[in-house]
Amino acid sequence: MKEKTMTSSLTNSHASSTYGANPVKEGEVRLNEMGSQVVEGYTCKPVDYDANRPIMHYKTLLLLCDDERCGKAGKTDKASELREILKSMGLNKGENRIKISRTGCYGACRFRQVCQVTENTKANGNIKNNALWLRHTHHFDDTKWREVFTLLSTNKILEELLDEKHFIPMKVYE
Ligand code: FES
Repeated sequence: MKEKTMTSSLTNSHASSTYGANPVKEGEVRLNEMGSQVVEGYTCKPVDYDANRPIMHYKTLLLLCDDERCGKAGKTDKASELREILKSMGLNKGENRIKISRTGCYGACRFRQVCQVTENTKANGNIKNNALWLRHTHHFDDTKWREVFTLLSTNKILEELLDEKHFIPMKVYE
């Protein structure tokens, strides 16, 4: 590890506004989300590769659509911003970790920016918050996201505590 450059060039591996478009440059030292140094030319590939290393536990996984129409609605790199909020709340790791992942189009662009809530029901996820779909999340400000994160991390039931207008309805079409 290049100790002399660690302090001056550490950045979030997903700091770019376009996923995968911010590879590590020559001489730059960057850590990925798992705290591993990233290979030059890559965005997240670790230098010390372990094919059997377990993935990091999460209680809640938020699948945020970042495809064309949702991405444009959001305007900013919302996934990166939400990760920073989670870090500030201490919810980026540990038992109640909330993970943010970008997705492609769900075919539900009319509800953009779409965010699906999934819960890790094999561990400590709350099944009552599983398979919820949030709509127009690009209108959520940081305070609103903090409220959502707090509710999720404390296993409160979102449908009981958030306005109905935030949820995408679902039906069976024949
Ligand atoms: S671009 Fe997000 S649902 Fe289509």
